[in-house]
Amino acid sequence: MSAPSTPLDDWNARQYLKFEDERTRPPRDLLAQVPQRQPRVVVDLGCGPGNSTELLVERHPDATVIGLDSSKDMLREARHRLPRYRFIEADLASWIPQEPVDLLFANAVFQWIPDHQMAMKRLIEALPPGGVLAAQMPDNTREPSHVRMQEVASRRSWANNPGLSDAARMDLPRPESYYDLFKPLCRRVEIWHTIYNHVMAGPEAIVEWFKGSALRPFLSALDAPAADDFLEEYTAEIARHYPARSDGQTLLRFPRLFVVATR
Ligand SMILES: C[S@@+](CC[C@H](N)C(=O)[O-])C[C@H]1O[C@@H](n2cnc3c(N)ncnc32)[C@H](O)[C@@H]1O
Repeated sequence: MSAPSTPLDDWNARQYLKFEDERTRPPRDLLAQVPQRQPRVVVDLGCGPGNSTELLVERHPDATVIGLDSSKDMLREARHRLPRYRFIEADLASWIPQEPVDLLFANAVFQWIPDHQMAMKRLIEALPPGGVLAAQMPDNTREPSHVRMQEVASRRSWANNPGLSDAARMDLPRPESYYDLFKPLCRRVEIWHTIYNHVMAGPEAIVEWFKGSALRPFLSALDAPAADDFLEEYTAEIARHYPARSDGQTLLRFPRLFVVATR
């Protein structure tokens, strides 16, 4: 039986998991800073294919762990990976917990939510005293990987494609703005950046990485031949900006913002 196909505008679990080790390192680092020892109910917001949910299950085997995502393909993969756990389809832009939750864990999802700071604030307000919202977001919109995406989108006839004009993610707000918004509601707000330097096989591997995330809105706005041309030009830009190191591999510099807010 062939695998069910994924709509172009949905996330693709298989593409996302090509770099599972690298993508799962930030949620490990985030979880290491969560102060709670024994949360009873944990929700993995934007659980994706269940890689971050699996970390939560391992760390808190006695807790009720629930995964939440808006993508059918991601949820299918997550349910397959962790069949004993509950996964719900919901839009984080409007979702609010229906039961008390001690830990809301959100690795690499809030950057996709419009006005995500207000969404985070709303979720913090729903936490009981001592409850935690722990979030990580890529803070890489000024990296060549993203600047070149926008530059390639501004070339050729596809520059007039309305789908491309809002395909790029906005810059994240500054750390101070999260602090000022959340601190009046919280006992403690920890914010930090980590810059990863992922070792990649070469420019094509970097392009494959972003096909699983930031390139999706660009590629889904184009028809197949235009998407191929776009990828060819983008790959050439990536090769120029991420040259081979001494062993022939390439380093993908990747800054990420972490926020741990304790109610
Ligand atoms: C980059 S993946 C993160 C997956 C996983 N948490 C991890 O740590 O690797 C982002 C996930 O957020 C989900 N997502 C994006 N927008 C969403 C929304 N509005 N509501 C719920 N989930 C959303 C996507 O479907 C995708 O599975």
